[in-house]
Amino acid sequence: MNDRVKKIEWLKKERDAVILAHYYVDGAVQEIADFVGDSYYLSKMAALIQHQTILLCGVRFMGESVKILSPMKTVIMPDLSADCPMAHMVDEKTIRRAREEFDDLAVVCYINSTAEIKALSDVCVTSSNAQKIIEALPQKNILFVPDKNLGSYIASLVPDKNFIFHEGHCPVHNRISKMGIQKVMRDYPEARILVHPECTAEVIEMADYVGSTSGIIDFAEKSTDKDFVVCTEQGIVYQLERNNPHKRFHFTEDIPVCQDMKMITLDKIEHALLAMENKIELDESLRNKAKGALERMHEIAR
Ligand code: 13P
Ligand code: SF4
Repeated sequence: MNDRVKKIEWLKKERDAVILAHYYVDGAVQEIADFVGDSYYLSKMAALIQHQTILLCGVRFMGESVKILSPMKTVIMPDLSADCPMAHMVDEKTIRRAREEFDDLAVVCYINSTAEIKALSDVCVTSSNAQKIIEALPQKNILFVPDKNLGSYIASLVPDKNFIFHEGHCPVHNRISKMGIQKVMRDYPEARILVHPECTAEVIEMADYVGSTSGIIDFAEKSTDKDFVVCTEQGIVYQLERNNPHKRFHFTEDIPVCQDMKMITLDKIEHALLAMENKIELDESLRNKAKGALERMHEIAR
């Protein structure tokens, strides 16, 4: 254990803190985290953790979701400016307009959204539970925000609902191309293609498996194949390689890297715990409104 890691361990005890991390942050950060998981797992852990302080290593909507569900805890982030650009690709007007236009409408927001958007939504979803939740909704019309790629993929699995999409997307997944995958397949023709549903429809069509980050990790572990083309953010390779030392994981040439996730460093973790800085603060009435959508997700997904 190097000196910085020792210091972080010491600070964790001093501050009664636990570290949660998403699979997209750097391997060195995942290594020191107490719990690492996908977006759904991280929001579920929020309510289960007994410690007073939660240090969330990921992007802002993840920290906000933890605070919304655990208001009595101190929720801090190594860098408050680490933010998901897709979370800001839909505005409140879009939701209000759809509510006026459609009867029998459910507003479904991807967890990659701001607290303001969650507050206006009926239910939240993540990529690991979106199908189950939308199937359980009584409404026929579904406004899905902000991710058009994920929304379109779920719509193909739930054909009896009428989906209204929004033009949001994840810039990292949206860039993964069919041609890029074909290029990798020329060198590894036997490789299985693992795709996150934030990718485009033409990439999803090529997939052997489509699912959330934890779904991709499970699939790779259970598979007897040796080579995989991984169509999601590169941070996931830390878990994939650790759990499968004899398998090979390939990315497209233009490696998918989320710059916001990479803003989370050991240096900033140490500093945030030391100074107890970068607290997530939410207006109480906004928090209460946003809580409904997250709680409904947890009720249905359970
Ligand atoms: P999941 O971990 O839920 O698959 O989400 C991926 C993501 O883009 C998080 O920002
Ligand atoms: Fe947002 Fe995409 Fe980064 Fe996830 S990978 S935080 S969806 S920009």
